[in-house]
Amino acid sequence: MTISINAYTPNFVAEVYDVDLSRPVSAEDMSAIKQLFWKYAVLVFPDQKLAPQDHVNFATQFGPIEMDRVLAMENAAPRLGSAFADISNLNREGKIWDKDSRQRMYKEGNKLWHTDSSFKFKPGLCSLLYSMKVVPIGGHTEFADQRAAYDALSPELKTQLQGLIAMHGIEHSRRRTGFANFEPEEATRLPPVPQLLVRTIPENGRKSLYVASHIGAIKGMSAADGEALFQKLLAHVTQRQFVHIHRWRPNDLVMWDNRCTLHRGTDFDDMRFVRDMRRATVSDLANTCEQEGVAV
Ligand code: OGA
Ligand code: MN
Repeated sequence: MTISINAYTPNFVAEVYDVDLSRPVSAEDMSAIKQLFWKYAVLVFPDQKLAPQDHVNFATQFGPIEMDRVLAMENAAPRLGSAFADISNLNREGKIWDKDSRQRMYKEGNKLWHTDSSFKFKPGLCSLLYSMKVVPIGGHTEFADQRAAYDALSPELKTQLQGLIAMHGIEHSRRRTGFANFEPEEATRLPPVPQLLVRTIPENGRKSLYVASHIGAIKGMSAADGEALFQKLLAHVTQRQFVHIHRWRPNDLVMWDNRCTLHRGTDFDDMRFVRDMRRATVSDLANTCEQEGVAV
């Protein structure tokens, strides 16, 4: 059986069928999936029954999995094992988290438009998020196409942005949600890092914006001008024509290209309903500036 697809738009988001990711994927199917991924940037694999190891095995086809978590407490006692980010509203004991818990305040940041791990020197290449339990109302994930958004910029703005470097930091996005209580160890482990504002996707040569709420400054610009440019670009990228909303069903595996998409979680009643997902994140090859030969 070879895979089949249903594309949502000509170049962004496709559902993939006729492949069972809990079994070894043939070389032929794997190569077809990779081609689709570079083209569509978001792939949805419905109705997959994935044990944690199946999830890891498939993710590893795209590169090495990030094993370090931002919060020291999640590094020390991960609920799901160190290959996964815990995308749930559950505490370590598997119960709904406390209203005032640090985890809950920290995860508010997932509701801001972002791309995973752009605050790490070597950022995230792709993420693979698997739904175990979904909620009846809300709790969708929205995705924005930063390549299409780049293509739609004016020629003047494209020229202005070429070569600009933004500073990404986890403390920047968390400041935007009012979370500031990082432990000293967390803050020193994750200082802000440089990333290009416009990057090229090597597999197809497409240019993409690389904007995220982790941006706290743009090199060579005043704080106010940098923030204004960031806000202008974010408003541009997240216009309706660039955005897809994924409405989760149980056992969806959704993977996205962190290099050229943005995403955010939408609200739900997290003190009432359990939403349980796990995410494997694959590291990029190098820092974005290094990849394009720009001195940092
Ligand atoms: C993530 C993320 C949003 C959501 O898993 O990286 O940002 O809807 N998730 O849970
Ligand atoms: Mn995320």
